[in-house]
Amino acid sequence: MKRQPVVLFACFGVKAERWLHVLTPLAVAFELRTWPAAGDIGEIDYIITWAPPHGFFTQFVNLKAIFSIGAGVDSLLLDPALPDIPVARMIDESLTVGMAEFVLTQALHYHRAIPTYQQYQAQREWHPVSVPLARERIVGIMGMGELGRATASMVRGAGFKVRGWSRQARPVDGVDTFAGTDQLDAFLNGCMIVVCLLPLTAATHGILNRTLFSRLNGAYLISVGRGPHLVEEDLIPALDAGHLAGATLDVFVTEPLPSDHPFWVDPRIFITPHASALTHATTAGPKIVDNILRAIAGKPLLDVVDRAEGY
Ligand code: GLV
Repeated sequence: MKRQPVVLFACFGVKAERWLHVLTPLAVAFELRTWPAAGDIGEIDYIITWAPPHGFFTQFVNLKAIFSIGAGVDSLLLDPALPDIPVARMIDESLTVGMAEFVLTQALHYHRAIPTYQQYQAQREWHPVSVPLARERIVGIMGMGELGRATASMVRGAGFKVRGWSRQARPVDGVDTFAGTDQLDAFLNGCMIVVCLLPLTAATHGILNRTLFSRLNGAYLISVGRGPHLVEEDLIPALDAGHLAGATLDVFVTEPLPSDHPFWVDPRIFITPHASALTHATTAGPKIVDNILRAIAGKPLLDVVDRAEGY
């Protein structure tokens, strides 16, 4: 009898139970195994993964495709031993809407001068601050992929003027689009809030640096893509120089952020633990299973990463 295809769940640093709770009842046309209980390694056809160590996949000699539970696949693509098979990334509302909600929360926080009131409160001071309406504020979003476009629409829905910057122009209704390094300065000029939602590639590594900050005048940074977008040692000097007024950082070069890192104690920096948008197994699990069933049926996979582009 022909054996069922075998799918291995191998997500690192993730609570497996909430995924297995969703995936196990859906594992009808395939057998589901969980790392490290992989059984005969040569039987593994597909892997569902997050943040595997480099070289992890080389042992699976019959692997046919890899399914990421996250949107960003940089950790997979940076593996020099990644096998030459399709890699599908996650596109799900828990990530797109979740990210848009997070960015909107922070944009409103800065727009309505909440950090200023927090300072006043600490000093028991009573000073009303008059702020313009959101339609007079510009939010610039770097990266107009799935997350950037969803965020642009929600932020625009709240009334802000929205700009989008990406490698190639990606038009979105009501968003002023800018493309390429030639238009980066024009994009930044006048932004009150700059959001980084770029994929991490060789071209975007370190893009949030002193040169970029020098184009800003008291703006707020919301860094929610990947830690290495930011040249960390350039941030506090940019705050001190007034190019930046504050920063929300969700991602860091080293995660978890080391407890002695200067960002923790700087009142101008607001930190969240890589949690701006977390994939929900309840919606994303069935999507991965559908994609695996496509693979089993020999159909082209959805949301396959372009390895040359790096996302
Ligand atoms: C989270 O960082 C993701 O890539 O989904």
